[in-house]
Amino acid sequence: MNPLKHVAIIMDGNGRWGLKFKNSRNAGHKAGLKTVEKIIKATIKNNIKFLTLYAFSTENWKRPKKEINYLFHLLENFLINRIEELHKKNIKLKIIGNKNFSKKLNKLLIYSERKTKNNKKLQINLALNYGSKLELISAFKSIIKNKEAINIKNFSNHLQTKNIPDPDILIRTGDTNRLSNFLLWQLAYTEIFFEKKLWPSFNDKDYNKIIKKYKRIKRNFGGI
Ligand code: FPP
Repeated sequence: MNPLKHVAIIMDGNGRWGLKFKNSRNAGHKAGLKTVEKIIKATIKNNIKFLTLYAFSTENWKRPKKEINYLFHLLENFLINRIEELHKKNIKLKIIGNKNFSKKLNKLLIYSERKTKNNKKLQINLALNYGSKLELISAFKSIIKNKEAINIKNFSNHLQTKNIPDPDILIRTGDTNRLSNFLLWQLAYTEIFFEKKLWPSFNDKDYNKIIKKYKRIKRNFGGI
């Protein structure tokens, strides 16, 4: 059976779920946060060490201001109300992406990362204002600036995912089959699961099914 260290998720479908069931995209984001909590629990149960969640992309700034503000308000409240609990559960929070939000949110993010930095049970990488193309460009720039040899190992060390193993599984919910500028380098050999359900409807049973399926796949990494 395949070892499983790292699951990455593109949590797509909040807006459609919200419009369909509550007549509001933001209600979909609120429900999406409940799914996040369920999936964190299930990740710990499955003894998986890394969970990367795509919460806000560099392209998501194109959304209406009202929706963006609501998303950040949800995140702020989540951190204020839950960071102690995450810390007690031995969970480490790391942000990948550029922290250029409001002063209040930036401070909360830095505080949460510092507080949980030595935790060992599970590392949650929250991709916020993250875009893989920009990440790759800045890795190239810094490797050239440092005059280091350009090879896979050095290059990986200049990414924001430094010291994080590449994802074994990528899940994208919401019945859309694309990568949306997410971890383009890191997903080179990842097993990808496109899931029809919208993120707020996705649950631990669906998650466990994917994990079970993954464990049985023959992974060759280019060999036979
Ligand atoms: C994509 O659905 C989802 C997002 C851009 C935001 C993800 C946010 C959450 C799951 C909740 C908040 C999470 C945290 C950690 C605070 P979409 O809006 O693009 O859906 P659509 O394709 O139906 O429009």
